[in-house]
Amino acid sequence: MQPSWQKEAIIYQIYPRSFQDSNGDGVGDLRGILQRLDYLQALGVTVLWLSPIFASPNADNGYDVSDYRAIQPEFGTMRDFDELLAEAHARGLKIILDLVVNHSSDEHEWFRESRKSKDNPFRDFYVWKPAKSASLIPSEGIKPATNVLARDEVDDEYFPNNWQSLFGGSAWKWDEATGEFYLHLFVEKQPDLNWENPRLRREVYDLMRFWLDKGVDGFRLDVVPFFSKALTFPDYPPERFADLSAYANGPRIHEFLREMHDEVWSNYDALNVGEGVGVRAEDANLYVGESRRELQMLYHFDHAVPRDEARFLDPAPEFSLVQMKQITRRWDEALGDDGWQSVYFGNHDNPRMLSRFGDPVRFPYESATMLATVLLTLRGTPSLYQGDEIGMTNCPFEAVNEFDDVQVRNAYDALVRRGGGDEAQFLVAANRIARDHARTPFQWDDSPNAGFSTGRPWLKVNPNFGQGVNAAAEETAPKSILNFYRNLIELRKRTPALAYGHYRDVRPDDNAVWLYEREWKGETWVIACNFTGETQEVELEGEVRFGNYTTGATSATLRPYESRVAFQKKANS
Ligand code: GLC
Ligand code: CA
Repeated sequence: MQPSWQKEAIIYQIYPRSFQDSNGDGVGDLRGILQRLDYLQALGVTVLWLSPIFASPNADNGYDVSDYRAIQPEFGTMRDFDELLAEAHARGLKIILDLVVNHSSDEHEWFRESRKSKDNPFRDFYVWKPAKSASLIPSEGIKPATNVLARDEVDDEYFPNNWQSLFGGSAWKWDEATGEFYLHLFVEKQPDLNWENPRLRREVYDLMRFWLDKGVDGFRLDVVPFFSKALTFPDYPPERFADLSAYANGPRIHEFLREMHDEVWSNYDALNVGEGVGVRAEDANLYVGESRRELQMLYHFDHAVPRDEARFLDPAPEFSLVQMKQITRRWDEALGDDGWQSVYFGNHDNPRMLSRFGDPVRFPYESATMLATVLLTLRGTPSLYQGDEIGMTNCPFEAVNEFDDVQVRNAYDALVRRGGGDEAQFLVAANRIARDHARTPFQWDDSPNAGFSTGRPWLKVNPNFGQGVNAAAEETAPKSILNFYRNLIELRKRTPALAYGHYRDVRPDDNAVWLYEREWKGETWVIACNFTGETQEVELEGEVRFGNYTTGATSATLRPYESRVAFQKKANS
């Protein structure tokens, strides 16, 4: 295990649209982030991960890029970005960007060219297939338009195969100009790039170098396990589409990542983290094992909210603590001393961690800080999501049209509008699992729109900003989640054992208390976290160095959502 700044980093994810608006148009922007750098520096995080800031028509809020070398105009200009990067660096903060190259926008120049003709030089930048039935293909002399079918009219039998988009419906879209289908594993405005094409790969490495040469400190790689497709494009058994691994880990993925490493990463001291969608623990070290020279770390989906379309009427039950422990053990053991992961409980694709695993009504402070304790004391590079450090929660959405996310809108069309499902039931489900909960504007203070914008915010502001859930209130609150985070981050940064130490689950079957040890070079740290609103009894040795109750942290009784971090010097271990 090679120590590195990447392993010791503390990542903070910013969703730029929702962080801080500087010009009153209701959309967060780069100058807004710039205004808040002091806040981020005081928090103590070391790396800022910016969700996509590139030019995009926003079919999926920036995860559909139309120009990888241009800044999204509503976020600002390249000069704003250069200034942000310089100011961040001046404060000792690194910045990583979001590399979305499994697909581009259909408005990207490459795709505009690609769809023009079958012999266009960019044709093979994307994945094109003929219809299964020849009758759909425009014949010589007949205007393609006569053969065009709307999405709903194209029968299953014509699709090149039965692949489903992760955002609902067939993954193939009929394109009239050339009478073929293109592949889109996400929405139809996100055509999949063809990684089989070496010219495409070279373009990707070039654009990565463009940003790294500017001084950017690395990338998070969006849906990286999907880059390589199963070349035979087989039909899958339908139940497989609920499983995120359906499209992951294609035959050439490791070849591509090794090539990317040699072409790009090997020349920079940068951080990379893969979105490990569909990667099983036992395969993780194929991506992140040290000798593989592919990626430095990835984050897994085993505890992410299952969000396949059907879940919008019937959400899966939340993970129990015992399940969380099993997942954690499985990954920690699989990675061992060879691989590395990034640890998270929240991001822009999941509802709020406090709403999922804590009790924001009765114990907001205790449960938010307890969850922070776990997040920052597991083995791996922690990734914090904006707003979790001030106790932001899921937002009460009162009607379906208050949601913005394309995934919610597609699911609504399929399940309720076309499928006849119950609207009220849909609303209840979306209020639990929608990604928009993480995307509501950051709550800075109790002024209008929570200080996020002087204009009309692009997405609803959670009304609880007026009840003390905001950064300004957290500055002075006697029980401050924010100050707890600051202190815990400081502890983490000065304690290598908390970054590198071996993880041992002391009570795997306990569904109330998460009790584990981190052992490193003869030092043992014992972490005890009560995941319930009731008191729990535990045997706890060691000297309590940190916790979320200020007094009486010596007894064997853990109070509601209590967390403790204790130090133990073990003889010779
Ligand atoms: C990743 C992103 C998600 C996006 C999807 C398609 O999962 O995190 O937000 O919708 O990729 O780019
Ligand atoms: Ca703005």
